[in-house]
Order: sequence, then structure tokens, then C-alpha cells
Amino acid sequence: MNHRISFQATGGPEVLEWVEAPLPDPGPGEARIRHTAIGVNYIDIYQRAGAYPVPLPAALGFEAAGIVEALGPGVTGLETGQRVAYVDGPAGAYAEARNYPAKRLVPLPVTVSNEEAAALIFKGLTSHMLVRRVWRPVAGEWALVHAAAGGVGLILTRWLAAEGARVIAVVSSGEKADTVKAAGALAVIVVPRGGSYGNLASEVRQLTGGEGVRVAYDSVGKDSFDASLDSLAQFGLMASYGRASGALPMLDPADLGRRGSLAVQRPTVFHHVADPGDLQAAARDLFEAHAKGVIRAHIHDRLPLREVAQAHQLLESRLTQGALLLIP
Ligand SMILES: NC(=O)c1ccc[n+]([C@@H]2O[C@H](COP(=O)([O-])OP(=O)(O)OC[C@H]3O[C@@H](n4cnc5c(N)ncnc54)[C@H](OP(=O)(O)O)[C@@H]3O)[C@@H](O)[C@H]2O)c1
Repeated sequence: MNHRISFQATGGPEVLEWVEAPLPDPGPGEARIRHTAIGVNYIDIYQRAGAYPVPLPAALGFEAAGIVEALGPGVTGLETGQRVAYVDGPAGAYAEARNYPAKRLVPLPVTVSNEEAAALIFKGLTSHMLVRRVWRPVAGEWALVHAAAGGVGLILTRWLAAEGARVIAVVSSGEKADTVKAAGALAVIVVPRGGSYGNLASEVRQLTGGEGVRVAYDSVGKDSFDASLDSLAQFGLMASYGRASGALPMLDPADLGRRGSLAVQRPTVFHHVADPGDLQAAARDLFEAHAKGVIRAHIHDRLPLREVAQAHQLLESRLTQGALLLIP
């Protein structure tokens, strides 16, 4: 019998249940994937906790890698036994196996293992969006990266630094500071858990000779939003792509003018890879960057799928560096 993780009410990690989930044959255009590694992402926490409301009971998970086990009618270009990964809805990656739209599957090259793919496809394609579509790194330009030792943050930091951007990384501990320096960050600002972002902008100004950063990649949201805006150089860009600390404050567009003709973008990877051609092209770029060593898959730990509650506790505790995987 196939199993998956489900929740009937929003709340803490304890709402997550291991349930039987009978799996029909794949329908037209679908493939059945036997998962071998599943990525845990902050969006899973938002959904479980109710910050992003979903109809209940609900399945969870947007990122996994595995083996094609069966093909539905009309599917071409895939074979049973092939290794694939995906990032997208509908949620339900926290499962032993599932049926999934075949055109949304990304075939895996020999250079990437299934575990690496499950650590890369969501977080890496988000980083790809941030360095290719939101702001293309320019050698010597300053970039501020929040949660730089996290799943997305570590890939993003490495990618920006590899392309010559001067990265100021923000993390919550000395241990994480060592990790992001090793990934190429030029400077690190430590804001401890429970600490204030009040001095961040002045520290950034000091590091950049008064100028500020060209781009601020902010996934923390509520706590750091204002400090990120205050850290920008004139004409700078704030890429606000997450809200780990809570919902964003209201923003008066006129403020952006007063603060130096700033721009704010709220990019979402699901939009950027919605077109199957864009998805495959971005995945090719991502796996090429991985094969060349520009980026790496950082796996913090692997836990059995049934121990998903522990994985969520770990991610929310802010003690992880890189990706957490669930193994069915
Ligand atoms: N827009 C998109 O398309 C997109 C796609 C994927 C992910 N995201 C966003 O990217 C961010 C990173 O996702 P991830 O899955 O890779 O998670 P992650 O970065 O591994 O974990 C979140 C990190 O945020 C930092 N943080 C700061 N304040 C926090 C708080 N109050 N509570 C919890 N964490 C806090 C922590 O790092 P420190 O302890 O070092 O501060 C923590 O490790 C999330 O905000 C997610 O929503 C957006």
C-alpha cells in the first residue's frame, strides 16, 4: 500500500499524519513516480501552519526526485526506469509514490544523483530565477543575501560569488558564518535569533563605503524588510522572495522614491518555470552549473519520510544549513 503525509488541520508539526494513499494507474498525460528523495521547503511550513491557506485535508510537498514506474496514455519522451525530478504543485511530494503530469518532469543527467536533484530542483531553480531573471550578477557589484546558509541561500550565495558579485551574507550564528564564507561570501553580518536588524543598514553602508548594495535578496520578510530597503544603493533592487519571519509590512510606493528611486520585486519560481520549455531550459542551466562546480547541493540531513514532523521542527528551529531531505 502506498503512503503519504497528510494534515486535517493547520498547526505545528504534530498535525502531520502518515496515511494510506491508494494509487490508481497514471491517467492520460501522467507518469507514476516512485520517490527516492523528497525536498523539504519553507513553503511546506507556511502551508502546514496556515500562513498560506489550503483546502483541508491537504497533502504537502513540492519537490522530489525518483524513478518513472509507469506511464499513462499519451505520454511520450519518457521511459519507465528513467530518473526524474520535479518542482511544482499540486502539493503531494511527501509520499512514497504519486502520479504526476509527465510534461512537468525533468529528466536527470548522470552528473546529478537523485538526492542531489531533490536538494537542488526547487531551491536551485529559485536561485536560477534570482540570478538570471531578477538580477544578473555583475562582477564587483554588492549583493545582500539573507538566510544565506539556508536551502536557497547557500546556492544563491555560491552562484552570485562565482560570477563575481560581492556578497554580504546575513546569518544567525558563527557556525553559519563559516559556511557562507566558504561558499564565497565576502562579508558576513550575524543577526542572532531574537536579535534586531536595526543596525544592519549601517553595517552594510560601512562595508560598501557608504554606497549600499545594488540588490537585496530578502527571504526573511517581516523582521528584515525595512533594513533591506535601507541597505540599498540609489536605484537598487529589493527581491523580496519569502517571509520566514512573518508577513511583509505594507509599503507605500512613494517611499521607494524618497529612499532613492528603489525597485521592489516579489518573484515566485512557479511563475518563472510555468512554461514547460522555460522549466527544461532553466533545469539544464542549473544542472550545468552543478556539473561545473559553480553551485553545489548542500544536504544538511536525511530523515525517513515518516519522521517528517522532526524535519519540520529542524527547519523551523533555524539550525539547518542547506537542504533537508525525506527518504521514503
Ligand atoms: N519566491 C519563491 O519562488 C521561493 C521559492 C523557494 C523558497 N522561497 C523562500 O526562500 C526562503 C528560504 O527557503 P528554504 O526552504 O531554503 O528555507 P531555509 O532558508 O533553509 O530556512 C529559512 C531560514 O530563514 C532564516 N530566518 C530568519 N528569520 C527567521 C524566522 N523568524 N523564522 C524562521 N527562519 C528565519 C533562518 O536562517 P538564519 O537562522 O541564518 O537567519 C532559516 O534557516 C523561504 O522564505 C521561502 O519561502 C521562495
